[in-house]
Amino acid sequence: MATILMKLSEERAAAQYDRWISLLTFRQDAVLRKYVIDHLLPQKGTMLDVGCGTGKLLVEAGRRGIHGIGVDNNRQMLQVAKERVKKHNLSRRIDFEYGDATSLEFDDGAFDIMVSTLMVSELHPEQLEAFLRESARVVSPGGSVVIGGEGSPRNRLVGPFFDIIRRLSFKLVSSDVGPHPHYNIPRIMRSVGLNPKYRVSLMGGLFQLFVAEV
Ligand SMILES: C[S@@+](CC[C@H](N)C(=O)[O-])C[C@H]1O[C@@H](n2cnc3c(N)ncnc32)[C@H](O)[C@@H]1O
Repeated sequence: MATILMKLSEERAAAQYDRWISLLTFRQDAVLRKYVIDHLLPQKGTMLDVGCGTGKLLVEAGRRGIHGIGVDNNRQMLQVAKERVKKHNLSRRIDFEYGDATSLEFDDGAFDIMVSTLMVSELHPEQLEAFLRESARVVSPGGSVVIGGEGSPRNRLVGPFFDIIRRLSFKLVSSDVGPHPHYNIPRIMRSVGLNPKYRVSLMGGLFQLFVAEV
């Protein structure tokens, strides 16, 4: 559900995106970011954020000394991200590129960590696989691939109900987005040669973070 509203807010109002995403995720967007910053960032090094949106995560990482690049296929979102980086005086550490998650224009092993939050539910299955394959390629051996996003409530009654509503709303609102916010991410990670380590579950599974090693 949040994915559809997220998509609409991205397309129609990049400048308002931060406010909307906070509302739609019950502020779990900030919790996902905080987890990444506190537990997963290397002490120093390079980070790639794919589907970086308005660049909040990269700015927080940049303030910890990380050098990062954000990739997104929405120019309005990138514009907001660039303004944020400028405002925080981080332009020498953080950069952005317009691009697609399924075909990343970076060398093999160019980054220590790749993070993507709240993007994969916008991808179709073949795009997700291509994206994870690319992530495994551009992160150096021993580095991390971190995927955060919408999941399904684990409650046996609420979960299936939630999925039906979600599938119906995808059909009604958009045929352009894959109705797959609850992919089996660890399985796809394994299929592209990543080594899934663990997952963090928030709000009873409604939001999840998957961590894999390259
Ligand atoms: C819901 S926003 C998440 C933004 C940010 N990561 C966050 O956590 O707030 C999803 C972002 O992914 C981007 N996106 C969607 N599909 C993409 C693709 N195939 N390649 C690159 N970016 C993509 C959208 O433009 C959007 O900025």
